[in-house]
Amino acid sequence: MECSDQLTLPLLFAVGTAVIGSLQFGYNTGVINAPQIIIEGFYNETWTGRYSEHISRTTLTTLWSTSVAIFSVGGIVGSSSMGLFVNRFGRRNSMLMANVLAFVAAAFMGLSKVAASWEMLIAGRFIVGLYSGLSTGFVPMYVGEIAPTSLRGALGTLHQLGVVLGILIAQIFGLEGLLGNASLWPLLLGFTCVPALVQCVLLPFCPESPRFLLINQNQESKARSVLEKLRGTEDVRDDMQEMQEESRQMARERAVTIPELFTTPAYRQPIFIAIMLQLSQQLSGINAVFYYSTGIFLRAGVPHPVYATIGAGVVNTAFTVVSLFIVERVGRRSLHLVGLMGMAVSAVLITIAMALLDQLSWMSYVSIAAIFCFVAFFEIGPGPIPWFIVAELFSQGPRPAAMAVAGFSNWSANFLVGMGFQYVEQLCGPYVFIIFTVLLLGFFVFTYLKVPETKGRTIDEITSSFRHSASGESFGKYTTEEFNSDI
Ligand code: GLC
Repeated sequence: MECSDQLTLPLLFAVGTAVIGSLQFGYNTGVINAPQIIIEGFYNETWTGRYSEHISRTTLTTLWSTSVAIFSVGGIVGSSSMGLFVNRFGRRNSMLMANVLAFVAAAFMGLSKVAASWEMLIAGRFIVGLYSGLSTGFVPMYVGEIAPTSLRGALGTLHQLGVVLGILIAQIFGLEGLLGNASLWPLLLGFTCVPALVQCVLLPFCPESPRFLLINQNQESKARSVLEKLRGTEDVRDDMQEMQEESRQMARERAVTIPELFTTPAYRQPIFIAIMLQLSQQLSGINAVFYYSTGIFLRAGVPHPVYATIGAGVVNTAFTVVSLFIVERVGRRSLHLVGLMGMAVSAVLITIAMALLDQLSWMSYVSIAAIFCFVAFFEIGPGPIPWFIVAELFSQGPRPAAMAVAGFSNWSANFLVGMGFQYVEQLCGPYVFIIFTVLLLGFFVFTYLKVPETKGRTIDEITSSFRHSASGESFGKYTTEEFNSDI
């Protein structure tokens, strides 16, 4: 089969090495969940040591929410500045350089306890957020550029698989018997230097992106030899031709700036869709689970909340694999719709379970099941799809700017949930998930009305339909049905 012929060892090696960056993003997303109470204990001790009084609940909530959410502030800055690196240093070298941030962050977080400084922990979370924000740009770009066309979707989903595996590893290491205890938690946070080290050792053996070599650097023979290695054949004419066409198109199209994405009619519709899809991923409330599930399970009366959190990580990983296998068959739009609706229903179930807990103690089991469903439906669509669909909605010229805007939107919403969830939960009690239900239903309606199917369409077909739509007047008049029949 052609596909398996193209899945060569050098290609797998390069993709596997790149997605260590995705794994780091996932690890640092999941790592602060299980040891919350223990690290809060350290904050309290340090506070008492400094000020000779116990820390107040409000100050503790603020310090903890900041420690969680500062990660996404780093992500906002990192994801929107990736454009400064990729064309100047190349894709592979950008990934290599970013590891400096992971090492510095590991040192800050790992040494915060001996230094009795929560400030160092917060600074480390910010720096590893910078690294993760850069990774969410670098990795999908590198993988997309070295993958053969027929495998681009499947290999692209490996970014999300790296993220969910990272979350799962963090949850397992966070067990009290392993590193999630009062003496070893600095190692748990500092562990992030290990994947960084592995990536630094392996990346020099990975090739630079042939698209970068040819299109940005005009190094045709180098690009050809990299391609021959990646494809495992000397016949790389088709790939070279396609890249040369891309190069010509880019010369015609020129780079598009961020403001132009909003002022040019042909880009306004896809950038609006790209932003809304990122918001639907984050404002679904998924990270309320991945940052705070141990606390949520505790309040739901679950006897071993940490194991329930690991269960959520296992379900998360399993359903990402399911999505990987069905996304090319079922399509992005349908999977996103199913995922959003499933999450909305699960959020209602979570609310019912939480609200009835006092009367019916077995509701704690319902809440576990409902949270698992919430996570499973997330990975069916809203988890993986927004990360790779942006590249499908834009051609070569506007793509980098569009990816930066999408990354910025994603990480900003991530920050909002990470920072705000605990406060809103204190206000709304068991009804907090109703907010996500309402948002999810809104995103469902938006996706139904405005998001086109991109499965099996070439980028050119997709983007020319947006141009057609823009010249045919207002965004709202062009229905999804018309769009889909047009492309
Ligand atoms: C996506 C989100 C990330 C979330 C993860 C959960 O990658 O971007 O914020 O934690 O999915 O699997």
